[in-house]
Amino acid sequence: MAEAQARQRGGNADDGPATAEGAVRFEVDGEIAAITLARPDKRNAQTFATWSALARIGESLPEQVRVVVVKGEGPSFSAGIDLRMFTSEGVPGQGSFSSAAASEDAGFEQRIRQAQAGFLWLRRPEIVSIAAVQGHAIGAGFQLALACDLRIVADDVSFCMKEPALGLVPDLTGTKPLVELVGLAKAIDICLTARTVHADEAMRIGLAEQVVARSDLDQAVREKVTALLSTNRDAAVATKRLLQGARARSLEEQSRAEGIEQAARIKALFG
Ligand code: CAA
Repeated sequence: MAEAQARQRGGNADDGPATAEGAVRFEVDGEIAAITLARPDKRNAQTFATWSALARIGESLPEQVRVVVVKGEGPSFSAGIDLRMFTSEGVPGQGSFSSAAASEDAGFEQRIRQAQAGFLWLRRPEIVSIAAVQGHAIGAGFQLALACDLRIVADDVSFCMKEPALGLVPDLTGTKPLVELVGLAKAIDICLTARTVHADEAMRIGLAEQVVARSDLDQAVREKVTALLSTNRDAAVATKRLLQGARARSLEEQSRAEGIEQAARIKALFG
């Protein structure tokens, strides 16, 4: 296990031809994993290579990991999709929106589904994911923060769902968590105006669990990780499963689900 950890620590998760474009760092320390978007000079702009790198991390996440922290290096969490996608040259080795428009619909939809895989795993019951967000979280950056279970933000944070202003829709799994967190009306307001949501509003409307001074962000995340690791692992997984399923179940169904999970816990603890 120590060997596996050493290999992951400091390794670049994207080993394809566009390593520099993916620029995702992945480190594992026992039960804690950290994913860092590492293109600070480009404000951690994301490409298809970034999303493949995220998906690969999800596929190979060591079993012992309980908490995954997602962060961005430098002044911004992430300025969203790499704007070169809008140019005719595109991103080297990854094409452009023009080349996508020329391809078959099914092909591009499949590519989007692959990109989404980089975000979806962050909701697994076996882990708790925390986005540590400072500065700009725009478009794909906002959606990456939304893909996590919790958001701890710096007081300089600015969330913006810029896609509709660019003629696009948010398609990196962000629309459902946004609606669930802030409600339909507020989600429409935020997305269809592409306005900026700052820290105080983010906290008020439920986008952020905690706002701290920029200099305290790392410490606040460390404290949350410690608190999350203080509970029983299997109980935490079962509880997250229950909470995630709650919205889709009736009270009766949810109560039954609680009973089933509790019976399993009691058996595991006292059987
Ligand atoms: N793509 C590529 N490069 C980007 C980038 C992006 N999204 N955002 C910033 N950069 C680059 C800049 O071009 C600049 O590069 P150079 O130094 O080589 O000129 C460098 O990062 C620093 O940028 P700024 O000087 O602009 O930095 P700033 O701190 O003053 O401003 C910012 C930061 C407000 C995020 C600004 O850079 C900005 O508005 N960026 C564009 C944001 C954007 O529109 N993103 C698209 C969102 S939509 C989306 O994401 C679609 C989707 O999911 C499908």
